[in-house]
Amino acid sequence: MAHLTGQERARYVQGMFARIAGRYDLMNRLMTGGQDVRWRRIVIQEAQLPTGGKLLDIATGTGEIAQEGLRQHPDILAVGGDFVLEMMGVGQQNPERRAIRWVAADTLTLPFPDGVFDAVTSGFLMRNVVDVPGAFREQARVTRPGGRIVVLESSPPKKNVLRPFIRFHLNHIIPTLGKMVAGEADAYRYLPDSTQQFQEPDSLMAIMRQAGLENVRYNLYMFGTIAIHVGQKAILKSSKSH
Ligand SMILES: C[S@@+](CC[C@H](N)C(=O)[O-])C[C@H]1O[C@@H](n2cnc3c(N)ncnc32)[C@H](O)[C@@H]1O
Repeated sequence: MAHLTGQERARYVQGMFARIAGRYDLMNRLMTGGQDVRWRRIVIQEAQLPTGGKLLDIATGTGEIAQEGLRQHPDILAVGGDFVLEMMGVGQQNPERRAIRWVAADTLTLPFPDGVFDAVTSGFLMRNVVDVPGAFREQARVTRPGGRIVVLESSPPKKNVLRPFIRFHLNHIIPTLGKMVAGEADAYRYLPDSTQQFQEPDSLMAIMRQAGLENVRYNLYMFGTIAIHVGQKAILKSSKSH
């Protein structure tokens, strides 16, 4: 399904996440051996939220990154936005995610004014998006100057000795788990397909820079199959009067 483009792809993604919402968190734990909890912790550390700050976690799904934001910074306003209500509906049933402000939102047209958030985070969003540069421009628009954009995403496996094992995990273990646990082999074939066809971390970094972000960098995890990219919205320098 990773070959789909435009609205067709967006509709496919919406339908797929609506179907797997109930088993989404459990599947994440199983597929990553629990490592996803650590990556979300790092995402929030990288967001560098100030006291009483405002976080937007876009494509929040069931709200795990927003929840981690509130765990590390109980005084923040944490907004979780997604274009699949079923995913947020599962998160709303979790008492530990009660403080999240849930908003129906498409990452390509965010329903917020310019510069309102101290940080925008996303987890496993970008490989689903039909216009990646547009998504970064929109995230930058709603971030204050100097604020951070942090992206957690899977990366195509590098050509090295581990690649056959990683590909076996992606192409066989994950769809089998998806079928057994979520009853959805198709959705869990989309994950490896879209991962293997997604941008290399260097290309994603270049797209973030082209979208106007500064100080862009990334770190790799899980044998290079997971990347956390961080960028900053430029601070406009006031022109000197003579
Ligand atoms: C793999 S889940 C990730 C959920 C959560 N961020 C996490 O870390 O577990 C991807 C989420 O992205 C959402 N999504 C995909 N495209 C989107 C878009 N254009 N706008 C808003 N949400 C989107 C899906 O609905 C889904 O909930």
